[in-house]
Amino acid sequence: MNPLPLIRIGVCGLGTVGQGVWKHLTRVRPDLELRLGVKLELTRASVRDLRKRRAVRVPGKKLTTDSLSIATDPNIDIVCELIGGTTVAREVTLAALAAGKIVVSANKALICQHGAEIFAAARRHGGHFLFEASVAGGIPIIKALREGLVANRFPLIYGILNGTCNYILTQMEEQDAPYASVLGEAKQLGYAEADESLDVEGWDTAHKAAVLAFLAHHTWVAPEQMIVEGIDRITPDDFKHAAALGYGIKLLAVIARDFTTDELSVRVHPTLLPESHVVAKVSGVFNAVSVRGDVAGTTLYIGRGAGQDATASAVISDLVDAVALWKNDRRAFITARKALPPERPARGCRLAPAEHIRCRYYLRLTVRDEPGVLAQIATAMAVRQVSIASVIQRAQEPAGVASLVLTTHQSDERAMRATLVRLGRLRCVLERPLLLRIGDFGD
Ligand code: NAP
Ligand code: HSE
Repeated sequence: MNPLPLIRIGVCGLGTVGQGVWKHLTRVRPDLELRLGVKLELTRASVRDLRKRRAVRVPGKKLTTDSLSIATDPNIDIVCELIGGTTVAREVTLAALAAGKIVVSANKALICQHGAEIFAAARRHGGHFLFEASVAGGIPIIKALREGLVANRFPLIYGILNGTCNYILTQMEEQDAPYASVLGEAKQLGYAEADESLDVEGWDTAHKAAVLAFLAHHTWVAPEQMIVEGIDRITPDDFKHAAALGYGIKLLAVIARDFTTDELSVRVHPTLLPESHVVAKVSGVFNAVSVRGDVAGTTLYIGRGAGQDATASAVISDLVDAVALWKNDRRAFITARKALPPERPARGCRLAPAEHIRCRYYLRLTVRDEPGVLAQIATAMAVRQVSIASVIQRAQEPAGVASLVLTTHQSDERAMRATLVRLGRLRCVLERPLLLRIGDFGD
């Protein structure tokens, strides 16, 4: 009998995710080998610091600090890029693809910034690049979009795509916990990026939104072309104001395409969602993605969006696809090609101008508590036809200062931006206004 073929896996980066992959792959290896009809070997791994203590035991001879040597090693078949960032990770990915290897990645920042180059390299060298772990941690959302929902066009995809931010917002809302201490916990739990500003300023969500928009619409939208706002200016008081109005606050990505005008908008911002909305109830490190397909209708996916185990689960699912590709399994081949844009894109879409992006708004202002202030604010808003729907005023410390929370009727981004500038110039407005969107998704 012929021995089973041996598939050799190189893991670049043995941090939170890399160690999870090493741990769980070691555990499920016998079962996967039986199912796949191959032998699997965790052959080599790279790290930055060889002396760092790790939760998984990796023999010293398998470890290197030279990730490129793994990417180009003829004895490695599949490379997992779990380093993060866009420099070494890009070099490793392109070198592995050029050497004809299959690359599995969790790196949404890399895909967002260099996806076009990476997919072109995969095409050129007949290789494959798999990235299930790059969006929404353990939720198989990439597979859902490119396999389960392949018959659909997607007028609306929205959801919570960052576990760190959802964890922070939940703790602030439920425990009244201060922002800084909760951020520290999220880092300890392995949820946050090495540079946590990517999480809290919304950029990580924007990277993931770009990946989803690409899969759904075959168009790369750079974060600089999106509205990207983070959670770092939200205070415990905003949760109280939102609750008084019947809402919770979530950091959402929204990818909306109007198939009549062919305009696409991709945006990331804290959003007020009705408390009864199922996504508003998704708490802690969990993510939720709502996908409206023109054939299937709306499907909703909820699961752990960050952390070692959930992310390792997604990486290992790609490793299994990679093995099937290595064995030239036809189904896996088709699956992987569906991740690439069509050679000749169908009718392209263009980005929606700001005046076509419409919603209701929540505006918090810190103002002087004196006669005429409300009238000045109402006038500033009326100039751009922004219509006020409700007002809550609360006295604040020190005396003479008030917190003013307004909601608006439907308006558009251009009008709101102009209004914010006008409000910021008023003498009675003491701090930069906080603007949040109200999510009316019709489901
Ligand atoms: P991490 O804990 O910071 O781990 C990074 C690993 O890469 C570490 O082992 C580090 O080595 C190694 N490394 C860094 N620079 C290197 C270099 N120049 N050469 C060789 N090794 C190097 O990061 P992580 O949280 O595992 O994230 C890895 C990737 O997965 C990122 O792209 C991230 O966005 C993505 N991701 C993370 C999660 C999550 O929940 N954490 C979820 C989904 C996706 P040392 O250990 O020696 O420092
Ligand atoms: N920092 C990311 C998050 C990791 O918190 O969602 C998962 O992509």
